[in-house]
Formats: sequence, C-alpha cells, structure tokens
Amino acid sequence: MSKAETIWIIGASEGIGAALAVAWAALGARLILSARSAPQLAELAASLGPRHIALPLDVGDRTSIDAAAAKVAEIGSLDRVVHLAALYDPGKIAHLDPETAAKIVTVNLTGSFHIAQIAPPLLRNGGQLALCGSVAGYIGLPQGQIYSATKAGVISLAQSLRTELAGRYDVRLISPGFVDTRLTRMNAFTMPVLVTPETAAHAIINGLNRRGFEVHFPRRLTFALKILSALPYWASLPLTGRMAKQENPS
Ligand SMILES: NC(=O)c1ccc[n+]([C@@H]2O[C@H](COP(=O)([O-])OP(=O)(O)OC[C@H]3O[C@@H](n4cnc5c(N)ncnc54)[C@H](OP(=O)(O)O)[C@@H]3O)[C@@H](O)[C@H]2O)c1
Repeated sequence: MSKAETIWIIGASEGIGAALAVAWAALGARLILSARSAPQLAELAASLGPRHIALPLDVGDRTSIDAAAAKVAEIGSLDRVVHLAALYDPGKIAHLDPETAAKIVTVNLTGSFHIAQIAPPLLRNGGQLALCGSVAGYIGLPQGQIYSATKAGVISLAQSLRTELAGRYDVRLISPGFVDTRLTRMNAFTMPVLVTPETAAHAIINGLNRRGFEVHFPRRLTFALKILSALPYWASLPLTGRMAKQENPS
C-alpha cells in the first residue's frame, strides 16, 4: 500500500474477513468492519486500534445496508470495499430447508447485488470493489446445492460489473478454494488443499495489489477446477459424478 488506505470489509467478524482485517491493519490501513455480530466486530476493531470502526449491518436487509452506507459516506471516500459476507448449508438439494435456501440466496447473491450498487459512490475514483465468489461457483459439484448456485451468480455479477464500471472502478473477483473457517467446518468430507484464514488473507491482499480480475487460491486446486469447468459436459459431468460417489458411496 502506498498510503494509509481506508478499506470497508463486509463479513469481517469471522474467518477470512477477520484475518484480512488483522493483516490489513498491520499494513497501516484504516478499516471499517461490518457483519451482523456487533459485539464481535467491536472487540475486533478495539483489538486492532483506535482508528478502526465497527459498523454492524445485515447484507440481507437493504435498509440496514443503506443506513451503514450513509455512515460510511460521512467518514470519507474509500480506497476499497471487500465484500465477503455469505451463508452456507451443505447437503443434498432434497434435504435442504426451503427457508434456509431462500436466506442463502438473499444473503449471498442479493446481498452482493446490494453491495455492488451502494459501493461505487463511496469509492474514490479508481477505487476497488471486490466480491467473493468461490471455486464452488466454477461448476456444479456434488453436495454443492444452493450455495454453489449463488456463487456462480456472484461470479457473473462481478464479470458484468468489471466491464460496466471499467475506467472508473477496479472490480475484482475473489475465488477461494477451501479455507479452514466455521463455514467449511460444516463439511463432512476431507477438503483438498485446505488453507488457514491467514494464508487466504495473504493471498487476497497480494492478489488485490496486483493487476488482473480474479484472485484465486490455492492454485493447485483452483487450476484443476478451472480445467474441469472448461471441459465439455460429456467429459466434466462423469468426473463430478465420480466425486459424488466418493463422498457418498451409498
Ligand atoms: N471458507 C472457505 O473455504 C471458502 C471457500 C470459498 C469461498 N468462501 C467465501 O469466502 C467468504 C468468507 O467466508 P468464511 O469462510 O470466512 O466464512 P465465515 O467464517 O462464516 O464468515 C462469514 C462472514 O460473513 C458474515 N455474514 C454472514 N451473513 C451476514 C449477513 N447477513 N450480513 C452481514 N454479514 C454476514 C459473518 O458474520 P456474522 O455472522 O456476524 O454476520 C462473517 O463475518 C464467503 O463469501 C464465502 O462464501 C469461503
């Protein structure tokens, strides 16, 4: 970072977002930290130092987002908005609770749309807006259910915005592989190339400081899945079907 940046991290109370906050604070950034859990955010902000601000919000609720955006506008223009908030509930589609499924769509996909709409006016000219997809959005995987579909939607949204806002804002897509957080602790299978939130934060900061659209990691996993998703369906679907059998032999 060439100067002390002002960065709004949404989804900062836990996991990758909290690790990013710690890493960016150590680099001298001034942070606005958002998520639903106000006490957790306040504790994190206080632990990082007095210049950081805890700003609770619910990305599933536009009124709450608008209220937070109004407060951010008073702080001054932002260098980056990094949106990580998401929900997850693994399992087969047949076993998913419809209300939970609707909430996942609202938070992960509609929430990303809300942030994509309110962030640009808060950014300085040339500022960065990063949305978080997932390798789960590259291709429909077994047990991927509604979460994967929302992440495919976020990838598409980020692609659209990248061209729509070109020349004015730097739109980025973050595509993590498996990171050890409360989200992936719900997985019942052995996750390949699992990394820590600190490693993820390091990869994200480095990637966002470089040129290019997508920040994806760990590359050993992401490149393999990119190749899988680029294959024609007659080749890729039997391979993903084999993964389903390995995860659930019955
Ligand atoms: N972990 C992985 O392996 C992995 C892989 C690929 C992609 N990702 C993506 O990486 C991002 C971060 O995931 P993570 O693993 O760090 O998950 P996490 O530990 O569960 O953290 C998710 C964060 O989002 C916040 N959040 C959830 N619902 C929210 C809402 N309605 N409004 C505002 N904030 C909300 C949570 O805080 P509150 O509960 O306090 O609101 C928390 O700070 C997500 O977009 C996830 O899809 C993760």
